[in-house]
Amino acid sequence: MPSHPAMEASTWLATIPSRRSRRAFDTHALSHEDLDAIATLCSRFTPYEDARVLLLPEAPETVFTGLIGSYGKVTGSPSALVFIADAASPHAEEHLGYTGEAVVLAADARGMQTCWIGGSFSRSAVTRIVTLRESQVVRAVSPLGHALLEPPRAERVMFGASKPKSRRSLDQIAAGQEDWPAWAQAGVRAAQVAPSAMNRQPWRFRMEGDSVIVATSGVRTPVVSTRLDCGIAMLHFELGARGEGLDGEWEALEGHDIARWSPR
Ligand SMILES: Cc1cc2nc3c(=O)[nH]c(=O)nc-3n(C[C@H](O)[C@H](O)[C@H](O)COP(=O)(O)O)c2cc1C
Repeated sequence: MPSHPAMEASTWLATIPSRRSRRAFDTHALSHEDLDAIATLCSRFTPYEDARVLLLPEAPETVFTGLIGSYGKVTGSPSALVFIADAASPHAEEHLGYTGEAVVLAADARGMQTCWIGGSFSRSAVTRIVTLRESQVVRAVSPLGHALLEPPRAERVMFGASKPKSRRSLDQIAAGQEDWPAWAQAGVRAAQVAPSAMNRQPWRFRMEGDSVIVATSGVRTPVVSTRLDCGIAMLHFELGARGEGLDGEWEALEGHDIARWSPR
């Protein structure tokens, strides 16, 4: 299947290595151009009916709560993203990770910063602003703005904001990957640096015939579903594979197996 018409695969792929979650922002409002670009992407990049991203051009600070008191709280973000899933749909979590990460990467490519927040946000503050259909739920939010150039002490100490983020090795997430085709290795490398709740990286890849399967590692993450994290990794994998010229499509699977990417 050719990529989704609103997918900017090479732009999003290029921004993957430098994207980092940021939690301290400079309070300055975003430009109309940036807000329009993100709003347009939110409405056009809807590959799945059960997942969507909403832009809040103005985000009240009450949306973000601290981890312990105000410690770990997102500060100074002028805007926000809201990640909404249809709770009645069995694959909505991974679809939301996939769709939401597209907006995260697009924002990063335009020089904005983000941070998926699945735990420390106020659902009631969000649902006061956002109208949800009956089975829709807010799974996560993200600040959207320009992060402070120098991460403040709390961000450095709690989240290692000025150090390279630790990641599982390629062998841990994709055993035997050194023998895989170039497109599959590129996919796994792009997935390796994807964001995940508590940096647990709960995705595992294996090859079956010509296809690659994404599965959850079985680790349980409080609050945030590992399926959502795996959806994020699916988008990264696809961008890496497409970067090697490989066209393909996802097929949903059941249980620990999340989805299969098959070349076309
Ligand atoms: C689904 C999801 C939920 C997250 N929830 C939170 C959160 O509640 N609070 C927070 O400070 N960071 C949260 N994060 C950010 C992760 O801690 C971060 O992605 C991870 O440590 C990797 O760091 P990086 O994004 O800079 O590569 C979340 C990330 C994801 C993908």
